[in-house]
Amino acid sequence: MKNFEYQNPTKILFGKDQIESIGNEIPKNAKVLLLFGGGSIKKNGIYDQVTSALKEYDVVEFGGIPANPEYAVLMEALSVIKEQKITYLLAVGGGSVIDGTKFLASAALYKGEAPWNILTQNIRTTEGMPFGTVLTLPATGSEMNSGAVITRAETKEKLAMGGPGLFPQFSVLDPTVIHSIPKRQLVNGVTDAFNHVLEQYMTYPVNALLQDRIAESILQTLIEIAPTVINNPKDYKAAADFMWSCTMALNGLIQKGVPTDWAVHAIGHELTALFGIDHARTLAVIAPSHYTYNFETKKEKLAQYAERVWNVTEGTLEEKAKAGIAKTEAFFKSLDIDTKLSDYTKDYKGTAQEISKRFTDRGWNGLGEHQNLTPADVEKIVEMAY
Ligand code: NZQ
Ligand code: ZN
Repeated sequence: MKNFEYQNPTKILFGKDQIESIGNEIPKNAKVLLLFGGGSIKKNGIYDQVTSALKEYDVVEFGGIPANPEYAVLMEALSVIKEQKITYLLAVGGGSVIDGTKFLASAALYKGEAPWNILTQNIRTTEGMPFGTVLTLPATGSEMNSGAVITRAETKEKLAMGGPGLFPQFSVLDPTVIHSIPKRQLVNGVTDAFNHVLEQYMTYPVNALLQDRIAESILQTLIEIAPTVINNPKDYKAAADFMWSCTMALNGLIQKGVPTDWAVHAIGHELTALFGIDHARTLAVIAPSHYTYNFETKKEKLAQYAERVWNVTEGTLEEKAKAGIAKTEAFFKSLDIDTKLSDYTKDYKGTAQEISKRFTDRGWNGLGEHQNLTPADVEKIVEMAY
């Protein structure tokens, strides 16, 4: 295992009726901005629960943060924060609302010129405006990590930001919120979390036995609960395991002491920026090609994954490793998630070159756990995913 430091300050309030407790977490004299998305929380009762828990507070609302949180919309929210002298942010939503709130937490205290520079210049946020979250969609892990991904339609860009000042102070994880989630978003959630684990696992062995087994157990849990969650989101047991697995997949724990990859996400974000494909689906498109292209450097972990997660017992190491990739793609397909770019758009020709050029322009010359995947390699991986 490699050396590491680990600190995660986010307090988790897990379980039924925990939304009632948010008043215990937010300072009584705070002026709160309640941030939400396109309105699902008004239909499923979550908005009522949150406003009832906040009835003693001075609250301003900002709704309409879209999936793939848009910079232009967030800049409107930033004006509200300044005009209304907001002191505390509360995100009620999925990864998009939470990420948008993280951007605002950073931008509200940012002293530079355009807040977009936080994303383009990789400015780490060491101090942000305090915020909490009520998670409505298990998927991203944003509720317990310090990263965010922000979209700018004007330039078709989707860029990441983060820093130790962007952990939520608290997050409410009430598994009953999944009752109203459409099937498309449930399968996205399973697929995103599954790929988060793979990005931190499918590298090369470093004798991190516990880290490997925690990662494998999250994958096994997701595989086990997926059919129940999709067919019966009211099954509380499955919903609880789903929600906690998604959080554990990206709260920083399983990446400690091990190499991590994240090339699938870097490439996938471009597919969302260019074509608007749901985040999780871009990962299902890129991951099989990425693992096939990088087979030689990843085959030990691929074989271990095939054995331990998918019970592949027959064959050589190479055969097991190949079976691991095939099982992964079959799993995405079993969730009704397409795994080729051409399944999502007819305009895919030239995409590989465009993404490769963007990476060159940004100086992203070495992706992956060995930091040796060049824009030319990225071009080949995307072509394989057509
Ligand atoms: O906007 P509303 O009306 O709330 O509807 C949302 C949205 O349309 C709906 N939804 C959420 N909770 C619901 C619900 N509908 C019914 N009932 C509920 N309880 O679901 C739709 C999708 O929501 P969104 O927040 O966009 O989904 P998700 O949580 O998958 O977040 C995706 C975003 O997170 C980023 C992605 O790139 C993408 O922008 N990611 C953030 C990460 C992080 N911060 O660590 C890591 C991830 O890899 C990812 O990149
Ligand atoms: Zn993701």
